Amino acid sequence: MDYFEYKDGRLFCEDADITDIAGAVGTPFYLYSKRTLLRHCDIIHRALGEVEHLTCYSVKANSNLAVLALLAAQGIGADVVSGGELFRALKAGFAPEKIVYSGVGKTEAEIEYGLGQNILTFNVESIPELELINDIAGTMGKLAPVALRVNPDIDPKTHPYIATGLRENKFGIPHAQALEGFRLAAGMRNLRVIGVDAHIGSQITELDPFVESAKKLCELVETLKDDGISIEQIDIGGGLGIRYADEIPPEPSEWAGAIVPVLKGMGCRIIFEPGRSLVGNAGILVTKVLYIKRSGDKVFVVVDAGMNDLIRPALYGSQHEIRPVIRIDSEETVVDIVGPVCESADFFAKDRTIPLPGPGDLLAIMGAGAYGFTMSSNYNSRPRCPEVLVEGSTFKVVRERENYEDLIRGEHILVD
Ligand code: LLP
Repeated sequence: MDYFEYKDGRLFCEDADITDIAGAVGTPFYLYSKRTLLRHCDIIHRALGEVEHLTCYSVKANSNLAVLALLAAQGIGADVVSGGELFRALKAGFAPEKIVYSGVGKTEAEIEYGLGQNILTFNVESIPELELINDIAGTMGKLAPVALRVNPDIDPKTHPYIATGLRENKFGIPHAQALEGFRLAAGMRNLRVIGVDAHIGSQITELDPFVESAKKLCELVETLKDDGISIEQIDIGGGLGIRYADEIPPEPSEWAGAIVPVLKGMGCRIIFEPGRSLVGNAGILVTKVLYIKRSGDKVFVVVDAGMNDLIRPALYGSQHEIRPVIRIDSEETVVDIVGPVCESADFFAKDRTIPLPGPGDLLAIMGAGAYGFTMSSNYNSRPRCPEVLVEGSTFKVVRERENYEDLIRGEHILVD
């Protein structure tokens, strides 16, 4: 459940009237609900209550500092995939001993940064990465805590671009080579092998892939134990889907109910890396209708947000619900909702039946709290839009709208 609801035909975020916020900050803008964020945090925490666990929020989903700080204050940890994300996580107040670092392409500088900050774990994705971490830790006089990310070859039944645990994906060490990888790691002087890890994909709406992955990790922990390698921590990644259109993802309690029994008896601390399920439905993108354009028998609703602001429909064909911010009674019309960017992929909805809005009307693109702003860009030299956080009836701009000067920061004209 979220806190975006109509009151007398006007869409509110908690107790704040979205039309008023638009009047104050202009459009387009991202809007996040604090109450929803905290609620999702609490739901996930309670669902996992039966096992010793640490939730490490996947920062890539929404890395706004205010959002991160809110989550950090709940005592959870963070899952980061770059030096930049580690920097943000630390700035926002996540404790280093609650930060895990994932990703296939960690650089030397990033590894040094993580080691220097004494983070909880490096989720290591290849043998060469193990060797590099071992070398750097040696030079720094540190013992690097590592988990090996295995690729369990499980079909998460999601969009191919966000499936990560199939054999052909670049992620993790193939399950069949895992034992060999762990033996190698255990023999390296400057590593402390503490965990196993897997993340099989994102926007997963079925339980089976999670259960299968958890079982494979538990089997691996047993095999390693027989081999003399004891494991303290099992990281099962993130991936729980949310409802965008008509999908029916499992509730966090159902998801936990399926995996907790598998993991419970292992004597290990369980790490979870949820991203989307924490923040996805806590955010929307608010945009204004610029024109209604009729071309042949097509009707285009041209809005002031573009694919540079929210790329998910263009990249994954994702279906975001789109609501009028003030309910209208106009004729139901089949429209394409498109942005101003010079690409035919710049759309938010195709052949969607909605009450026809008029120029100046506001639309709310729902479920935009995850992988929305974080995937935005300056394409077409469009300044990135602001992010606004609502708490009760008050709102604060937590990232300002970029201006034209921001667009050219760091660029140099070379004059002969
Ligand atoms: N852990 C790791 C190692 C990950 O790679 C990811 C997401 C997560 C956790 C969090 O997954 P979540 O709980 O959010 O599903 N841009 C795409 C999603 C890409 C997900 C990448 N990895 C989208 O907009 O759907």
